[in-house]
Amino acid sequence: MKKQLFITRKLPSHIIEPLHTYYNIVEWPEEEVVMPREKLLAAVKDCEALWVTLADQVDAELLAYAPNLKIVSTLSVGFNNIDMNALRGRGIIATNTPDVLTDTTADLVFALLLATARRIPEAERYLREGKWQGWYPLQLVGKDVGGATIGIIGLGRIGQAVAKRALGFDMKVLYHNRNRKLAEEERYGFHYRALEDLLQESDFVVVMTPYSKETEGLIGERELALMQEDAVLINVARGGIVNETALYDALKNNKLWAAGLDVFEQEPVALQHPLLTLPNVVALPHIGSASLQTRTAMMNLNVQALLAYAQGETILNRVDRY
Ligand code: GLV
Ligand code: GLV
Repeated sequence: MKKQLFITRKLPSHIIEPLHTYYNIVEWPEEEVVMPREKLLAAVKDCEALWVTLADQVDAELLAYAPNLKIVSTLSVGFNNIDMNALRGRGIIATNTPDVLTDTTADLVFALLLATARRIPEAERYLREGKWQGWYPLQLVGKDVGGATIGIIGLGRIGQAVAKRALGFDMKVLYHNRNRKLAEEERYGFHYRALEDLLQESDFVVVMTPYSKETEGLIGERELALMQEDAVLINVARGGIVNETALYDALKNNKLWAAGLDVFEQEPVALQHPLLTLPNVVALPHIGSASLQTRTAMMNLNVQALLAYAQGETILNRVDRY
């Protein structure tokens, strides 16, 4: 008998095709719109397998609506949308999509680094708004990336991929991580720093940690005050790691030079959000892993996990054991 699979978003049919052999598939029919919570709770009633995006919260409440649930796959590397304790209580499996998005996300960090440092979006607006009257020496001058010091908070897979790109820009690479990465220090010349020292010494601070109770609000008023006044903060991890009110105040009062943000506490971010009123904020709609190749590879990892589950084979990329 086929198992019930619910997918919280409309996905390309060729991607989910292999799953039809094992599953009766029901999909939320919208490609772009997040499923309303009450609809999601009603939809999981019979499902044994659930495929979610990072916008869907899988918590104790949802589990209470899903008595048959055995496996949850999230279309993301971050799995803060899943309450692992609640899952463990019922022995439910969870899988994510690591590795395949590492380079794509590291590329976006560099895109934000260059965009903030060289004021690319601001310069583009200037041209399109007809403000370009001619060349002058201090027109839209920015900061150099080459040779600057980058401080990476969280030297996981993506953090390391950012660090390697930074070496190509002759940057000095500082990092802060729960555990020292001695092999990487030795091999690539990365320098470990306590968080406070990293914040003080870096021209560019990149937030790359997973989002958890420990990292919620990790970068607040005190941490931002430690940064140099011409430093740049980049966040492509999760919005809640940086206190947005403190960040706004720091940018507004010229205590920080710019910020590049791919993530927000509330997504989608409201157009009235104070951060979006600032010219020195480069804001993106959570597109860190958004290349066609990578999004395809991520979806394929979810398919593989769901197939392995249905076939009783070893399931890769399990995160329920952490
Ligand atoms: C994106 O934020 C992801 O966790 O994959
Ligand atoms: C985070 O999960 C990473 O891959 O760095």
